[in-house]
Amino acid sequence: MSRRIKTVTRCVCRYRTFEQIKLLMDTYELKTLQEVIDKKIAGDNCGMCRPYISNMLKTGEFEFAPGEVDPDYHE
Ligand code: FES
Repeated sequence: MSRRIKTVTRCVCRYRTFEQIKLLMDTYELKTLQEVIDKKIAGDNCGMCRPYISNMLKTGEFEFAPGEVDPDYHE
C-alpha cells in the first residue's frame, strides 16, 4: 500500500483544513494570508501550507495535488 500523499487539504501544524481556514477567515473578516498567519489560524509554524493557502485564496478550492501551489507566492 502506497503511503504517498495524494492530496493536500490542510495546515498540518495547526491541523486545520483549508475549508476550516476559509470559514475562520470569513468569521474574523480576514482577507490575506498574512492576516491568517498573524492570527495564528494557520501557516505560522513551518510555513509549508502557505503557498497552498495562497492558492485557495485565488481559486476558492480546498484540495490540491502535492505541489499545486500559487505560482505567484513568494516568501
Ligand atoms: S503546515 Fe501550516 S504551518 Fe506547518
